[in-house]
Amino acid sequence: MKVTQAEFIISAVSPKQYPDASLPELALAGRSNVGKSSFINKMINRKNLARTSSKPGKTQTLNYYLINKEMYFVDLPGYGYAKVSKTEKEKWGPMMEEYLQTRKPLKAVIQVVDIRHTPTKDDKGMFEYLKHYGIPIIVVATKTDKIPRGKWQKHAKEVRTTLGMEKNDPLVLFSAETGQGKDEAWSVIWQKIKE
Ligand code: GTP
Ligand code: MG
Repeated sequence: MKVTQAEFIISAVSPKQYPDASLPELALAGRSNVGKSSFINKMINRKNLARTSSKPGKTQTLNYYLINKEMYFVDLPGYGYAKVSKTEKEKWGPMMEEYLQTRKPLKAVIQVVDIRHTPTKDDKGMFEYLKHYGIPIIVVATKTDKIPRGKWQKHAKEVRTTLGMEKNDPLVLFSAETGQGKDEAWSVIWQKIKE
């Protein structure tokens, strides 16, 4: 897809602040620092529209980005970062659950994992949670630039088995550094929007 326009709309912490439910939404979930915001930026050809950081815990609200005035990416706070205070965690747990369980225009969650590592307990927990609520999932294994191409398939298989993905669950190998997997990711996103 050719992205000609992308803009930040709002950092929402409650449903009152969500935009009109008139356009499809794709939400980004994944461990802190895994590369969710970088994924958005690469997909829309913008360096830092979605704020990224080498420090985990950067994104702490539901950040809405409007793409070509036809869909939203919703950047969710990362999970699994021990240093985030307990009060912060108590705030976003319910905030994310409310969004994931009730948001009508949500077409799929893009769950981002690091291709270098076996998915963590938290990754597995998130995947199972989404399955449980019947939310379509696109798994993106990012940072392929960090391992040799010859190892990609072995790592991809590890991701599939550890998460317990079914044959038809899409897995996209991606890199925000090289743009690997970008076209495939757009194609899977459109499939989910149209389903
Ligand atoms: P939180 O908002 O804290 O949950 O993190 P996030 O998941 O949004 O991660 P973010 O996009 O901020 O990226 C974290 C770090 O990983 C940054 O230093 C990025 O430059 C780096 N990074 C993200 N994607 C890639 C990638 O595909 N390849 C490489 N080499 N680095 C990446
Ligand atoms: Mg982020």
